[in-house]
Amino acid sequence: MNELRELYQEVILEHYQSPRNFGHLDHPTHQGEGNNPLCGDRLTLDLQVENGVIRDVRFQGSGCAISKASASLMTTMLKGKTVSEALRLFDQFHHLVTTGKVASEDVGKLAVLAGVHKYPSRIKCASLAWHTMKNALQGETEAVTTE
Ligand code: FES
Repeated sequence: MNELRELYQEVILEHYQSPRNFGHLDHPTHQGEGNNPLCGDRLTLDLQVENGVIRDVRFQGSGCAISKASASLMTTMLKGKTVSEALRLFDQFHHLVTTGKVASEDVGKLAVLAGVHKYPSRIKCASLAWHTMKNALQGETEAVTTE
């Protein structure tokens, strides 16, 4: 079990140090901004949606290892998903980080974040990018906060 935990930490650390899809898109169709008032960390998200399918996504921001790794992992899973699949994944992710339980195999490598359910402040870190994504896809223009 310890080995497994170490592996999970390795994945989180690796995504933190080399975040995927980091930056901005030239012509996003959807944008979101999120912040965690507890620590002041902010994140922006650009999405390119065509015919209901997420073609591209980028995020930018400064944050802790968990928030950045979670955002990076999220972007790797969103490309090619329909908007409704992405929103369903939001629900599955939320279940994962609040209960520590994998409700569906769809969460795939996101399972590395299951351990955060034991730490309420970390749930907010892990969820920041996800709330931002949900808001952006639902066309909300107000910045989302984790509070
Ligand atoms: Fe700020 Fe994690 S400490 S998002």
